[in-house]
Amino acid sequence: MTIRVAAVGDIHLSEHARGTYRARLNGIEERADVLLVAGDLTRHGTVEEGQVIADEFRGLAIPVVFVLGNHDYHSDAEQEIMAMLRATGHFVLDDSAEVLLGGRLGVAGGKGFGGGFAGKCANEFGEPETKAFVRHTREIADRWRIALKGLDTQHRIVLSHYAPVKDTLAGEPPEIYPFLGSYLLAEAADAVGADLIIHGHAHAGTEKGATPGGIRVRNVALPVLGRSYATYGL
Ligand SMILES: [Fe+2]
Ligand SMILES: [Fe+2]
Repeated sequence: MTIRVAAVGDIHLSEHARGTYRARLNGIEERADVLLVAGDLTRHGTVEEGQVIADEFRGLAIPVVFVLGNHDYHSDAEQEIMAMLRATGHFVLDDSAEVLLGGRLGVAGGKGFGGGFAGKCANEFGEPETKAFVRHTREIADRWRIALKGLDTQHRIVLSHYAPVKDTLAGEPPEIYPFLGSYLLAEAADAVGADLIIHGHAHAGTEKGATPGGIRVRNVALPVLGRSYATYGL
C-alpha cells in the first residue's frame, strides 16, 4: 500500500501567526499519512515562536516529523523548541531517526549544514574556523549514515533543512550555494539508500532534483511550493 507523505518547510511563523496557521492543514489526514516539516519553523527561533509552532501542530490527526532550520537556532533556544515540539506527541529529528506507521516508514535526518557541492566545496584545510565549518557538516553526515542504517523499515526518508544537491537550488544565486547545503548529505543517503530526501532552506530554489545515486530530492520550502504542502507517494 502506498504511503502518502505530505511535506513543507520554511513556514517561518512569528507570534503574529498564532491561531492562523492551523487552517492551512485542515483535512490533511485525508490526503496524507504523515507530515514532514523541513525546518525554519520560526522567524527568529525564540521560545515564544516555538510555542506558536507547538500550538499550531498539537493534536493534528496524522504524525508530524520536524527538523529545525538555521532560523530556529538564532536565539539559542533550539533545545527548548525541540522539547516543546516533542511534548505535543510529534517527532523531532536531531541527527536521529524515528519509525512510524507501524514500522512501514523510517525517517532519519536533522538540520544539516552547508559547505557546497562536489568540485566547488569547502575542505577541512587551513584556518580552524574553516575546518570547524566543514567538520560540522561531515559529522552530521556521519550521524545520518548511522541513523539510516539503523532503520529496518519498508521505506526510508531523509528529512533535512539544508539541501543535499544543487539541482533543487536552481534559481538561487550560485554565490550562496555553499551556505545552502552540502553534497556530504547526499553521499550519506546514497551510501545507505533511501526512497526520498526532503529539504527546505532554499526559498528561491526548485522543487525537484535527484542525488548522484538516483534518490528523489524535493525542496519543499513554502515559497518554492506556493501551496500549503506537497504530497509524494512511496
Ligand atoms: Fe527559510
Ligand atoms: Fe533556512
